[in-house]
Amino acid sequence: MRTQLSFAPLSKIETELLAVLAADTQTDKAPDAKPQLVLLTADPAVQAAAAAVLASGEFKAGANETALLHAPAGLAAKRLLLIGLGKQAKATANSVRNAAGTAVRFIKPRGIRELVFVLPELETLAATACTRAAVEGAFIGDFDSDTYRSERKDQSVESFTLAAPASADKAALQAAFDEAIIIGESQNFARSLVNEPGNKLTPTLLGQRAALMAAEVGLGWEVHSTEKLRELKMGAFWSVAQGSAEPPALIVLRYEPKGVTSGPVLGLVGKGITFDSGGISIKPSDKMDEMKTDMAGGAAMLGAMRAIALLKPKVRVIAVICAAENMPSGTAQKPGDVQTAMPFSPDMPGKTIEIINTDAEGRLVLADGLTYARQLGATHLIDAATLTGACVVALGHVNAGAFSNDEDAWAKFDAALSISGEKFWRLPLGEEYAEMIKSDIGDIKNTGGRWGGAITAAEFLKVFVEDTPWIHLDIAGLAWAEDSKPYIAKGPSGVAVRSILEWVRSYGN
Ligand code: BES
Ligand code: MN
Ligand code: ZN
Repeated sequence: MRTQLSFAPLSKIETELLAVLAADTQTDKAPDAKPQLVLLTADPAVQAAAAAVLASGEFKAGANETALLHAPAGLAAKRLLLIGLGKQAKATANSVRNAAGTAVRFIKPRGIRELVFVLPELETLAATACTRAAVEGAFIGDFDSDTYRSERKDQSVESFTLAAPASADKAALQAAFDEAIIIGESQNFARSLVNEPGNKLTPTLLGQRAALMAAEVGLGWEVHSTEKLRELKMGAFWSVAQGSAEPPALIVLRYEPKGVTSGPVLGLVGKGITFDSGGISIKPSDKMDEMKTDMAGGAAMLGAMRAIALLKPKVRVIAVICAAENMPSGTAQKPGDVQTAMPFSPDMPGKTIEIINTDAEGRLVLADGLTYARQLGATHLIDAATLTGACVVALGHVNAGAFSNDEDAWAKFDAALSISGEKFWRLPLGEEYAEMIKSDIGDIKNTGGRWGGAITAAEFLKVFVEDTPWIHLDIAGLAWAEDSKPYIAKGPSGVAVRSILEWVRSYGN
């Protein structure tokens, strides 16, 4: 998608489609209170062209509602698209992000390949935040998941122009604009990985994709396999990989900005299960196909690392992605097996894990991933994983789960959320939950029973984090969207990329 930031007068812009936002300023909540519509641009030519539709009562400016006018009077554009932002008082960066996505997804099936999106003028939202949201939304909206359809028509948008008023701070808007392109593309990169089926994206191939991306954006990278797992004594990671004919991949990416030799080292650890059958504790076949998305946490880390490499915050970052396939076979681990996790230092004993359920595999690969990130020097950790169905039961497909053992790290993540606009809900940790994963035969067991399943999974990870400040993101409910929205296609969401990125940037200012 070609992108451009324009400060030209709107009436003069020749384009297939000019998209402009409208909001409802009605504050009276009475059911018969009529919407009071305002167009979110001061441009008099666009105001005049839209006046009749706004007065008609047909268009109510509900969130992502659209109205299309052909040959709008007084404008050089061929079409004028009005997009609703909903109640103006409730408008956020997410409303703008979604509206831009709606504009893009409106033109795609209609064979229109270019649009000019008018930057809304909102008192409650800085023009830079608006710019960022609009560009991110356009990229997010442009993504479609039907890559393997033989008769697929490429409907991607060729050109997206953001039109801002000439009075705007041009340099600030350009900076926000450039940044948003990187972020939108990085989120889509993560989505493209999650979209791949298990046979097209094995752990080895995920490693190759990571290496290719790393080389492209100038990250340090290593991709290891079975031998390295053995050398590092990654008994927990290997216990998952051992049942598959596909070898595991231990993906390490390094971001080392010039001149930064002290301060924190952030460790990003991702679950990269390219397919989760459950192993010997096999899953029911209904919806098992969805388990190709079980590497979404790893993909989120790869997307975030791509953006980090290009946006260059002043903080060192290491990413560790543990990729494996969880399969049942004659070499697979069995319920009742006891595994020894990677020791923090080679002369120390590793913690022993009793395997109760081979389907609780994510925490096993992450255990060794977290330990390895610490061994590589990470002072602060964040992990992302499609870890538990229990988290989906608790929070549905609306909020992802989040956990932390450190108030400062959490405060930074909370602040990151206010920039990213993503929804994470903090869930508790606690000694009583830790009790639930004590093993009779070894140190811990890999499930804590049905109740509080997202929390006992987090407690399991916490054992390997020890005292390192840490955030755990359980994205099981949000990695894949079952339904399309006007602004985003169904399928992989790329959730967590933006929030992880902002968390990292908050250490590098
Ligand atoms: N990958 C699944 C979790 C999951 C469920 C992701 C639904 C996305 C959607 C994970 O490996 C798993 O199987 N977890 C088990 C743990 C249980 C055996 C303790 C679960 O949640 O049922
Ligand atoms: Mn599983
Ligand atoms: Zn899994």
